[in-house]
Amino acid sequence: MKIIGISASARKKQSTHFLMEQCLQEASSTAERLEKSLDVELIDLAPLKINGCIACGKCKKAVLCSQEDDFQPLIAKLADPEIVGIIIATPVYMGCMSAQAKAFIDRTVLFRRNGFMFKNTLGGAIAVGGSRNGGQELSIQAIHAGMMIHDMIIVGDGDHFGGAAWGSHPDGYKNDETGINTARNLGKRMTEVACMMHK
Ligand SMILES: Cc1cc2nc3c(=O)[nH]c(=O)nc-3n(C[C@H](O)[C@H](O)[C@H](O)COP(=O)(O)O)c2cc1C
Repeated sequence: MKIIGISASARKKQSTHFLMEQCLQEASSTAERLEKSLDVELIDLAPLKINGCIACGKCKKAVLCSQEDDFQPLIAKLADPEIVGIIIATPVYMGCMSAQAKAFIDRTVLFRRNGFMFKNTLGGAIAVGGSRNGGQELSIQAIHAGMMIHDMIIVGDGDHFGGAAWGSHPDGYKNDETGINTARNLGKRMTEVACMMHK
């Protein structure tokens, strides 16, 4: 079993990346507690150049994309049958997910067009905003919408929608205990559900 975490911030190793790390760490600890084998991998989109989909239609015939950008190497990685869950973390940009997150999600359409390859894969989302209530929930739900288009199975943090954090916490984002806990609980919940599904 493998869970992939996508950090979809424009900035390398800042709050979005930190929350994704927290989430995946908790996923790993939960698997250990449940005595299950789980690999986790964090893919940071910040250094990558991923364009929006250009609707060329190439992927209607095969799992191929016409755009020669940094999404190409991700195609084989995301097609790995060991993947049981995909978590996308985004900063809130203008009340919703980042352009990086949206471009990534749009480009995954090739998996849908070739037999719904993400069907029954677990999906979860994390959003971090500069304000405490700056659009985290809408961003999470917008990511969930893309996941539902893939016929993925959405999981939350066992309480609400997933990871919702405050990047400009007065004590720094690494001290936003409430937000960190939601991200960690999402990792825990996804691993628990994955273990139930893949006995
Ligand atoms: C273009 C842009 C738009 C933003 N819009 C919002 C917003 O609507 N709501 C909000 O709470 N924060 C907003 N922010 C702040 C970021 O969500 C916040 O700083 C976040 O922690 C950045 O993630 P990072 O540390 O991974 O870069 C915006 C930041 C940028 C660059």
